[in-house]
Amino acid sequence: MSSPCPDLNLKPEMPRRRDHGIGIVGAGGVVNFAHLPAYNKAGFKVVGIMDMDRVRAEQTAATHKVSKVYSTLEELLRDSDIEVVDIAVYPWEVPPIAEQVMGAGRHFLCQKPLSIDYGTAARLVQLAKEAKVKMAVNQQMRWDAGIRGTHELIRQGWLGLATYATIQVHCLTNWAAWHSMYAGKHLEVLYHSIHYVDSLRFLLGVPDRVFSSGSRMPEEATEAETRTLSVWEYDSGLRVLIDVNHGVWQDDRYAIFRFEGTEGVIKGTIGLMYNYPTGRPDTLEFMSKKNPGYWHSTRHDYLWIPDAFVGPMASLQRAIEDDSEPLTSGEDNLKTLQIVFAQYRSMDEGRVVSPKDVTG
Ligand SMILES: NC(=O)c1ccc[n+]([C@@H]2O[C@H](COP(=O)([O-])OP(=O)(O)OC[C@H]3O[C@@H](n4cnc5c(N)ncnc54)[C@H](O)[C@@H]3O)[C@@H](O)[C@H]2O)c1
Repeated sequence: MSSPCPDLNLKPEMPRRRDHGIGIVGAGGVVNFAHLPAYNKAGFKVVGIMDMDRVRAEQTAATHKVSKVYSTLEELLRDSDIEVVDIAVYPWEVPPIAEQVMGAGRHFLCQKPLSIDYGTAARLVQLAKEAKVKMAVNQQMRWDAGIRGTHELIRQGWLGLATYATIQVHCLTNWAAWHSMYAGKHLEVLYHSIHYVDSLRFLLGVPDRVFSSGSRMPEEATEAETRTLSVWEYDSGLRVLIDVNHGVWQDDRYAIFRFEGTEGVIKGTIGLMYNYPTGRPDTLEFMSKKNPGYWHSTRHDYLWIPDAFVGPMASLQRAIEDDSEPLTSGEDNLKTLQIVFAQYRSMDEGRVVSPKDVTG
């Protein structure tokens, strides 16, 4: 038996003004298929764009009707119309760009992962504090319909005390297409599961201990992990399982989440991972002891890509307006990175690790 969900507020809290000027650094895949489509839909004011490859910047500007193309970062930062810089390049390119942006007194949003090591991320967060600029990280999965719906249900008390949670994604990803990432030491958690890590931490808090095992398919020419199994332990008794495999050549791929608590169960599917990056609507179902045996179900077309990309930028702009902290601030992101690097330490050392012990 099923019925419509109660009203769930899934849309991000929008800035009061739409005239915060945005300058984009990087005109690659993610800017073209996610940032610009989402910002245009939201009515954000994109002033201009630059990329070290000027042709890419020009093509992107023409496709998405961005009026200015800058040749250098200096030129972008000289434009007084730009209040927020959206840095969408690989993490190892971020520090010098972010430092220049902060030097120019601009607020900024960085793509995930903020950094490939914890120490660099912590240093950037400290510099942003000293420069008195707002800093946010693009962990947009928090605004994906399934995750945001789950957050709302938990907030409304439908789950009770959380006892078990899982995200399981079995998909096919051609990681070799991203040469520089494929050649690195860390892959799956740092570039993909970081979204699940951030979303689960957002919903359930920081685990006390984590254990992770990474592996890859036999034919893969990378030293990094493309499959991970991670278990999080909380002193409360809550247990979390993240099970991600990017090597599913069969056609029975799936991407599910499930939260069990003392009062209810919430479960659903992550639409994006069935046919990335086109995606399909998320599904969300829940039942509660208040209404036993009665499953509420809903489908939402507010997708992880591109729709959810409105969330981090909207939250950053609200923080500028209210002089508050964005939901996915740099400081907040350090807690996600502690879990990410605790998982890597666990993989390397074959032991359980406490995220709070990751400090450098
Ligand atoms: N949040 C998400 O869901 C999501 C999705 C995809 C990618 N990403 C992240 O976005 C980042 C970029 O990914 P992508 O797929 O767009 O990569 P890409 O290779 O398609 O694009 C990167 C662009 O940055 C430019 N660039 C590199 N260094 C630069 C510099 N110093 N100054 C100016 N331009 C520079 C390159 O010329 C290129 O055009 C990665 O960190 C990735 O993890 C996030």
